Amino acid sequence: MIPVFVATVLTMGEYDRASHAGHRRLCVAPMMDWTDRHARYFLRLLAPRAFLYTEMVPAAGLWHAGGERFLPFDPSEHPVALQLGGSDPERLSFGAAQAAAWGYDEVNLNVGCPSDRVQAGQFGACLMAEPELVARCVRALAGHGIPVTVKTRIGIDHRDDDAFLDAFIDTVAEAGCRTFIVHARKAWLSGLSPRQNREVPPLNCQRVWWLKQRRPDLEVVINGGITDWEGVRAQLRRVDGVMVGRAVVHSPYLLAEWDHALFGGTPPTRHEAVAAYLPYVERQRAAGVRLPAMTKILLGLFNGCRGAKAWRRYLSEHAPRPAAGVEVIEAALARVPRSRIAESERA
Ligand SMILES: Cc1cc2nc3c(=O)[nH]c(=O)nc-3n(C[C@H](O)[C@H](O)[C@H](O)COP(=O)(O)O)c2cc1C
Repeated sequence: MIPVFVATVLTMGEYDRASHAGHRRLCVAPMMDWTDRHARYFLRLLAPRAFLYTEMVPAAGLWHAGGERFLPFDPSEHPVALQLGGSDPERLSFGAAQAAAWGYDEVNLNVGCPSDRVQAGQFGACLMAEPELVARCVRALAGHGIPVTVKTRIGIDHRDDDAFLDAFIDTVAEAGCRTFIVHARKAWLSGLSPRQNREVPPLNCQRVWWLKQRRPDLEVVINGGITDWEGVRAQLRRVDGVMVGRAVVHSPYLLAEWDHALFGGTPPTRHEAVAAYLPYVERQRAAGVRLPAMTKILLGLFNGCRGAKAWRRYLSEHAPRPAAGVEVIEAALARVPRSRIAESERA
């Protein structure tokens, strides 16, 4: 028998863009090496309504290599946004046209990444210092029939006061961006690694709440350090949406709980979600995708449950073998107690 939740997910293929309103209340952050299409497919099985974001795709790479390399996704992933990195309006316009043609529900511009490589390409967080250029980029991204959003920080280096953020937001909003996703910490453009830039500068959520108060006409989604349901709820009293990153890729079942708590219904059990993932894994294996690319998102699924360690260890040891297929996931699953009650028991 097909569990009820699987039937719900399957209908998402016919998803109507107009019905996405409000779905940015819960978003999964763009994360290089994490939110690839396999992870998004699995997260969608857990969470029918969260808005999913791709890893950042460099607009220059897309321009040269074309969409086939970066853009394929499964229809069940809707609503899904393509995140682009770049600052060349012509290339960004091409990227947005590709996003629309491939069926993405949104195109998002990365104005938050502080890595040296990204700065060398003149994009990411360093663009906060150039609001007029970002406005030109937003104009170039618009006009392809899908919403344009910007993901940014509250500031960069020593420019992290309200006046700096306000001027940036107002200039970019004037160009037509109605949705801002704001990582509630500033970025240091030199001296810190990207990883440190996600931990060292302190979170300052008040700055994001203040932005929403000052510009209630804009949709403001907060990002950074949200790890539990209390945090999700508290933020949603102040802003329009939350975007969660590390917490959900390290413990994906959190997303199932938050999605269903926010939008209704009963989440699938972890076992049900894995069972529903297997046919996809089988298809991808037949197409030549190696198993670890698809089990990475599964590793933390049973965190907090009995059997979590055995699950993780079995997958880590067996998935990398060249011939490994779905039987590895099935064997790992057999090592974890099955009932909903057992799943919720602390390890
Ligand atoms: C491994 C990793 C890769 C990331 N890649 C991107 C990216 O491609 N684009 C982007 O805008 N942010 C990227 N981020 C930042 C996240 O989107 C998010 O802003 C950050 O992790 C803070 O949210 P969190 O505390 O919920 O994880 C990345 C973060 C991590 C941990």
